[in-house]
Amino acid sequence: MLSFHISPGGSLRGECQVPADKSISHRAVLLAAIAFGESTLENFLEAEDTLHTLKALQALGVSIEHASPGVIQVQGKGLFGIQNSALCIPLYCGNSGTSLRLLAGLLAGQNLCVELTGDVSLSKRPMQRVIDPLTQMGAKIEGKAGGFPPLVITPTSRLRGIQYRMKVASAQVKSSILLAGLTAEGETTVFEPVATRDHTERLLVHHGYPLHTEKGSVRLKGGGELKPTTLKIPGDFSSAAFFIVGATIAPNSELLLQNVGINPTRIGALHLLQKMGASILLMNKRMLGQEPVADILVKSAELRGISIEPAEVPGAIDELPALFIAAACAGGKTLVRGAKELRVKESDRIHTMACGLSTLGVSTEEHEDGLVIEGGQYVGGVIESAGDHRVAMAFAIAGLRAKQSIQIRFCENVRTSFPNFVECAKTAGLNITQVDA
Ligand code: S3P
Repeated sequence: MLSFHISPGGSLRGECQVPADKSISHRAVLLAAIAFGESTLENFLEAEDTLHTLKALQALGVSIEHASPGVIQVQGKGLFGIQNSALCIPLYCGNSGTSLRLLAGLLAGQNLCVELTGDVSLSKRPMQRVIDPLTQMGAKIEGKAGGFPPLVITPTSRLRGIQYRMKVASAQVKSSILLAGLTAEGETTVFEPVATRDHTERLLVHHGYPLHTEKGSVRLKGGGELKPTTLKIPGDFSSAAFFIVGATIAPNSELLLQNVGINPTRIGALHLLQKMGASILLMNKRMLGQEPVADILVKSAELRGISIEPAEVPGAIDELPALFIAAACAGGKTLVRGAKELRVKESDRIHTMACGLSTLGVSTEEHEDGLVIEGGQYVGGVIESAGDHRVAMAFAIAGLRAKQSIQIRFCENVRTSFPNFVECAKTAGLNITQVDA
C-alpha cells in the first residue's frame, strides 16, 4: 500500500509544470487512430489511465510508437479500419471511466467483438448512460445486470444517427455518442442539460471534421474523414487545481503554473476560487491548436465560504475535492448542491471527502447531492482515500494548513493522472514523503 505522509505547514513557491491534460490525451489518441494517416501527439499524458486507452488501441491493431518521452506517433487506420477479429478482444481499462465510455462509443460501430473491463472501482460505475444511446443507434452492447462493466460489444450492421437528450451533464456520454456518430449513417445530435467539457468537439475541428455546435447541442454527420494531424497537448487544469488551492491556502506562497489548459468548460473552479477571494492571474494567454492555454500565477489569499450552485458543478466537477479543501480553510460555510455525480466517480467523492474532512476535525454536513463545509482550523490524522487519486491529492495539499501531520492511505492511483505528483509537490514546497509498505 502506497501512502503519503505530509508534515504540516510550508509554502508553495517557484514554477511548476503540471502533466498533460488527461481528457485531451484520451481523445487525441482515439481520434488519431481513426484518422487517415500518421498523427504526431506531443506532450501526451503517459499516466495509467491514458496508457489504458493507448494499449486498447494497440490491441486492436493500431500502430502507436513512442518517438521520445511524451511524443507518440499514431498510424491512423481511417474511420472503419480498426482490426476486425472473429475472437472477442478483451480491453482492460483499469480505473479509467473515460477509456471505457469513449472506447465503447468508438467501437460500437466497428463490426467487431470486444469486452471492456476495469478494476474494482470502475466495475461499480454506471454504464447504462452509454448503453442506452448506443443501443438506440443500433449497437449491440451489453453490461452486467444494472448496467455495469464489463461491457461486451458484438458486431452489428451500420449504426444510425440519433437525436439524444442527455439526462446527466456528462462529457464522457456526449463524447461516446459523438464517436459512435462518426461511424453512423446520417446525423447525430446530442443535447446537454449544462455545457460540459468540449475537447472532443475541438479535436474533431482540429482533424478537419465538420460539426455544428450551438448553445446546448452538438451535431455531426457520420461517414466523413478525419485528417491526420500534429498536436501539442496543454497541461491539465485538473492537476493544476491542487497547486492553485495549495498556493492559495498556504501563507507566503507565490507559484507560477506554466502552460495550463484554460478551456472555458474546464475552469469553473478558478472562478469559484476567485469568488472565495483567491488571487489567481492568467498570464500569457495563447492557443495550442484549438485549446486556450495560459500561465497561472497564484498567491496566498484569505478565503471566504461561498454557495456553489448546481449549474456551476459540471465546469468544476473534477476540482471539487480540491475546492472542498479550500472551503475547509475559508471563513464561514461553503455549500455545494446538485453534485450527485460526485457519488459515481472513482470513489463516492461526497462521502470520501466528508469522512476525510471529519477526521481532520472539519465540520461537514453530507447531503445526497452535496456537502456543507464549515471552514476554520483543522488538525491532522489518517485519511482513507478509497483509492481515489483526486481525493489523495486534495488531502495532501490540505497538509499545508493542518496543525498536525496527515497520512493518506491507498495513494497508488495518483499514477492514473499525475505520476510525478510527489516530486512536483515537494519541489513547490509541500513537506511530503511517500511510503510503500
Ligand atoms: C471526463 C468527464 C468527466 C470527468 C472525468 C473526465 C472526460 O466525467 O469527471 O474525470 O474526459 O470526458 P463525466 O462525463 O462522467 O462527468
